[in-house]
Amino acid sequence: MSGHDAIEVISAKRDRHELSDSQIDWVIDAYTKGVVADEQMSALAMAILLNGMTRREIARWTDAMIASGERMDFSTLSRPTADKHSTGGVGDKITLPLAPLVAACGVAVPQLSGRGLGHTGGTLDKLESIPGWRAALSNQEMFAQLESVGAVICAAGAELAPADKKLYALRDVTGTVEAIPLIASSIMSKKIAEGTGALVLDVKVGTGAFMKDVDQARELAETMVALGTGAGVHTVALLTDMSTPLGLTAGNAIEVAESVEVLAGGGPADVVELTLALAREMLAGAGRDDVDPADKLADGSAMDAWKQMIRAQDGDPDAALPVARESHVVTAPSSGVLTRLDAMAVGLAAWRLGAGRARKEDPVQAGAGVVWHARPGDDVTQGEPLFTLLSDDEHRFARALESLEGGFDIEPAGTSFEATPLVIDRIG
Ligand code: URA
Repeated sequence: MSGHDAIEVISAKRDRHELSDSQIDWVIDAYTKGVVADEQMSALAMAILLNGMTRREIARWTDAMIASGERMDFSTLSRPTADKHSTGGVGDKITLPLAPLVAACGVAVPQLSGRGLGHTGGTLDKLESIPGWRAALSNQEMFAQLESVGAVICAAGAELAPADKKLYALRDVTGTVEAIPLIASSIMSKKIAEGTGALVLDVKVGTGAFMKDVDQARELAETMVALGTGAGVHTVALLTDMSTPLGLTAGNAIEVAESVEVLAGGGPADVVELTLALAREMLAGAGRDDVDPADKLADGSAMDAWKQMIRAQDGDPDAALPVARESHVVTAPSSGVLTRLDAMAVGLAAWRLGAGRARKEDPVQAGAGVVWHARPGDDVTQGEPLFTLLSDDEHRFARALESLEGGFDIEPAGTSFEATPLVIDRIG
């Protein structure tokens, strides 16, 4: 395509014009090929962040990013496919129990995941704490595993929406991650290219999420549902609370251990509730709402699918998980009811302990993270453990403790406490 140049496209968006289809197609293609330079795309991304995009522009931008790479096709599998995507939260290990659970219900889950950046963890980082487990699969291996096990969680290959890979890395260092058109097109280009038949979006709202308020989260969810539906993917979104971290752990190996508890029929109530809510949506989207996923947790078939899924990627599901070399216990400063536990404070503490990374090439510590021993609504006793901090490096504890300061409230015993609902709304 010709007839366009970067300055023309940047100026159009700077001056609040709607970009044409051919401008969008050209700029994504030219950026992927290196004809549009990083500094030009940065300026365009900032103009989009400040001036927004219409739904038509977002849909075209998404299509152009899909067209930058390959599109997978699972239509010849013997079962329907469904996937979920979370916009990212603290202690959000739901993919781990969810993928094998849905597979155990007869629906295949082709989950292409990422590594974490910043205070929210990445699914691949968590799974890589399992001895031997391998994130990189060829398309053939992925297809074969979907047919045999029914669930795959692996790294997205370089050929899937390469324009997004380049643009996301650029947004990360130019203050342009938070633009709703860019977030929606980034997520949906990958999910549509991945070839899933049904998609459930878990859009997080609260201090620990990208979207701090419910109106922004609803706009993001509606935008993504429209993109998915327009592309022929059965798409729904749940808005879920991320002001409190999920479960009782944030880290890598410790989140795997908590997920295995859920698969064994136990685990924290909120993790079980959200896993089942998302599983029901995925099954409904794939036309299998005749199956109750709670039965598959109870009868051990979800656990069997988990073990098969881990083994198929060379992991040992029965091996001991790595343990951090050092630990530090924080006790409750007073007795009463825990009325608030801030997701961002916990996420930052886990990150500072070594569970997350500051730059995308940094390693993560498998054993690092935070365990909290009470959830909002629980009674706590002065001097009893409230948090356990885990890290391979003792020097990390001081900064992690700083991030927990002001991150929780304990009120006198008997203070009434009303839990916020986990699932806030459903769109689709
Ligand atoms: N996750 C993505 O994949 N892209 C974004 O832009 C934000 C979150």
